[in-house]
Amino acid sequence: MDGEEKLALIPKKGESGMKHIFQKGSDESKPTLLLLHGTGGDEYDLLPLAKMIDEKASVLSVRGEVLEHGMPRFFKRLAEGVFDEADLIARTAQLNDFLNVSSEKYGFDRNNIVALGYSNGANIAASLLFHYAGALKAAILHHPMVPRRGIELSNLAGTSVFITAGQNDPICSASESLELEKTLAEAGAAVSIHWENNGHSLSRTEVAAAGEWYERIFIN
Ligand code: MLT
Repeated sequence: MDGEEKLALIPKKGESGMKHIFQKGSDESKPTLLLLHGTGGDEYDLLPLAKMIDEKASVLSVRGEVLEHGMPRFFKRLAEGVFDEADLIARTAQLNDFLNVSSEKYGFDRNNIVALGYSNGANIAASLLFHYAGALKAAILHHPMVPRRGIELSNLAGTSVFITAGQNDPICSASESLELEKTLAEAGAAVSIHWENNGHSLSRTEVAAAGEWYERIFIN
C-alpha cells in the first residue's frame, strides 16, 4: 500500500466512537462487508480478504475498543476462552448501534451487511447473530467460539453463515465448532462448516472456501 492509499484509509472516529475504515464499493447493490479482526489486530488486517471476497462491495472495517496488554479486542475476557459476559453483551449492543449509525452516515443498506470475522472478531459477529436477529444478512466466521450459552436465539431464518474451523484448533475445539453450527441452525440460519487442520490460524484454503461460499450465495 503506498502513502497516499494509506492516508485515504486513516481511521475515522464514528459518532459511536469506534475507530473504523469505510471504503465505498463500486456496486451499491452488493452487500457491505463488515470486517472484524482477531485479538491484537486492527482495522487494516482483513482488508485484503475483503478484496478477495468481493472487490466491488463496500467495506466497513472496525477496530475493537478493548485493550488487553495493548492488544485490541472486541470485548473483555476473564481468561483464554472465558468471556466477560456483561462486557460481551454491552459491546455487542455498541457494535449493533455503530452499524445503525454507519449505515445512515455512509448511505449503505443496513439490511445487507455480511460480517467477516476472525477469532475474537468472529466471536463478536456470532454474538451479533445471537442477540440481534437481522443485524447481519450473512456472516463468514473464521474460527469462532460459542459466544454465550443458555439463551434463546431469535429467528435467524434468511441468515446465512459460513464457519471455518480447525479439527486441531487449541482455542476452539471441533466439538465447540459443531455446537455453534447446531445452535445457529436450530435458530433457522442456513449454516455451512468448512474444516481445516492448521490449529487456530487463518489459512489461505479457508479464505478461498469462504470466497466460493460467498460467490454461491451472493454472485450466482
Ligand atoms: C476470544 O477471546 O475471543 C477467543 O479466545 C479468541 C481469541 O481472541 O483468542
